[in-house]
Amino acid sequence: MSEDATLADLLRESRRFPPPAAFARAANVTADVYRDAERDPLGFWAGTAERLSWARRWDRVLEWQPPFATWFVGGRLNVAENCVDRHVAAGRGDRVAFHWEGEPGDTRTVTYADLHRQVCQAANALTDLGVRTGDRVAIYLPMIPETVVAMLACARIGAPHTVVFGGFSAEALRGRIQDCDARVVVTADGGYRRGAPSGLKVHVDAALKECPQVRNVLVVRRTGQDVDWVAGRDRWWHEEVDRQPAEHTAAAFPSEHPLFVLYTSGTTAKPKGILHTTGGYLAFVAWTHWAVFDLKPDTDVYWCTADVGWVTGHSYTVYGPLANGATSVLYEGTPDTPHRGRWWELVEKYRVSILYTAPTAIRSFMKWGEDIPREFDLSSLRLLGTVGEPINPEAWVWYREHIGGARCPIVDTWWQTETGGILISPLPGVHDGKPGSASRPLPGVAAEIYDEGGRQLPRRNAAGYLVLTEPWPGMMRTIWGDDQRYRETYWSRFPGVYFAGDGAKWDDDGDIWLLGRVDDVMNISGHRISTTEVESALVSHPGVAEAAVVGAPDPTTGQGIVAFVIPRAGGEDTAGEDVVRRLREHVSAQIGPIAKPRQILVVPELPKTRSGKIMRRLLRDVAEHRELGDVTTLTDSSVMDLIRQRLPDPR
Ligand code: WTA
Repeated sequence: MSEDATLADLLRESRRFPPPAAFARAANVTADVYRDAERDPLGFWAGTAERLSWARRWDRVLEWQPPFATWFVGGRLNVAENCVDRHVAAGRGDRVAFHWEGEPGDTRTVTYADLHRQVCQAANALTDLGVRTGDRVAIYLPMIPETVVAMLACARIGAPHTVVFGGFSAEALRGRIQDCDARVVVTADGGYRRGAPSGLKVHVDAALKECPQVRNVLVVRRTGQDVDWVAGRDRWWHEEVDRQPAEHTAAAFPSEHPLFVLYTSGTTAKPKGILHTTGGYLAFVAWTHWAVFDLKPDTDVYWCTADVGWVTGHSYTVYGPLANGATSVLYEGTPDTPHRGRWWELVEKYRVSILYTAPTAIRSFMKWGEDIPREFDLSSLRLLGTVGEPINPEAWVWYREHIGGARCPIVDTWWQTETGGILISPLPGVHDGKPGSASRPLPGVAAEIYDEGGRQLPRRNAAGYLVLTEPWPGMMRTIWGDDQRYRETYWSRFPGVYFAGDGAKWDDDGDIWLLGRVDDVMNISGHRISTTEVESALVSHPGVAEAAVVGAPDPTTGQGIVAFVIPRAGGEDTAGEDVVRRLREHVSAQIGPIAKPRQILVVPELPKTRSGKIMRRLLRDVAEHRELGDVTTLTDSSVMDLIRQRLPDPR
């Protein structure tokens, strides 16, 4: 969504949807929580941690030496025990943790007691493979119960995991394994995607050619496809895990013990390993999941559609819901396989009451038409959520009408991999729904908007840069192995405050509107991809001399990737369609299919300033078929005419 479009929506948008009275009356959180949190923020955060079970209580809530935070100092706990054992101990072992549905239609019901057994067995198996507290384990799996089990088993033995989205390439996987020096990889032979098995182990094999430090690969058999096998290194999950004892005594780890590293795109070509730790993270995701989704663990069926490879899957498919003892749906496949009503079929089948998804999915459903969801009984739904990108008011209203039956409140939740959990969102029993606005900072969260010069703007009718001025328990602790980069990326644009990289606006009511990224990060279907990452993938192709990448608005995916490339002199012929196809494939192999440019334009020159900086602003104008902005700082303004000649006629 471009800034202009969002602003235009904002000016037009005046609809308000108050929460239904019965919903508000029964809501987990009421308005006074804001006052309490404001009066005593540390007392408020301590309250969120009280919801967990601690082997040793903390001595102090926070030690803050900007930009480094230590939360719940002196406390000790085990994440897996909090997510699994304590529910079983409280007599809730028979409660379903996951209704799992494979894409081909196979299903599994995993209770908390099942989860306990499997997590203990997997923890024992990892220990047998020599994984020790502090060792990193990479997880590269489809959306199957073993993925959750593997994460919890790592947490149980204090081995930080790094989950790599199954849609990433071997090359992307290699970079992540090397950066965090993982010694064991958990994967599957493959997974199902759009009706066909696709390989995962094959990518692990390719990646490990350059990762000699990896000792073992634990392989889940999911599709039954043929795989290559390295004797000694490769082990089947069903052989290593299933034979293990179903008991495992978990150690309690310090609050700040590393829980996971999750890689995300920044403004450079190298993804950043975002580090989250134990106590603060779990307290924060558990509380926000309970408060924002108004979770009633005894009766709700909750479904977060995000893949576990992204932070939304970590915080709101795995850790938050399990810490709260929720019953969730876990679905392996795509929304249109085998038919475009698949999600709604699942909502009907499992009587889903809370659905959390991304605007890009909603826009696809809008395109497919409301007749599809109408065929299913969606009356179990009582709350809807969105995340990942700004939601345009049209999509918000469509979601409310056609999925939410004009009765469900919607929570538009703003957060980032770095923030660990939701920071800005309406509370569904407290605030009116306002299509397109993420509403208010949650209780205890200190969000402000600064102007270019770092001055805090009044909380009415003002636009600028979103910042967080106080720490919160779920915040990232650093970039894995690179404190300096952590400081520079997040804490130096405005000294002493966290710079989110998003533009935002306070409206006349004091509600926040997110206006998209202000840096070189694109948002494609809610996935963060940096322009430089795609550029460096393109220039790694022998036929390309230079490349510039911009995100252009796209009606379904939010943004689409548009690349401008200069062919290498004397290189292969780079004018034809064939080359464009090859370059798209090349990017896909370097990063993953989600990073394939929507459009590649072969151009003779790129617009540059006299200091040699590529002017992406002008390329965006071209990609959007707009009048060009100011070209006076270009070394050679005729470049833009040459580029335009290469552009297909928009009509
Ligand atoms: C964007 C996903 C507007 C934003 C949880 C942020 C949003 C980036 C919203 C983080 C929202 C996320 N409204 N924009 N509700 N939620 N974003 O790290 O630009 O994959 O900086 O975390 O997504 O993406 P990430």
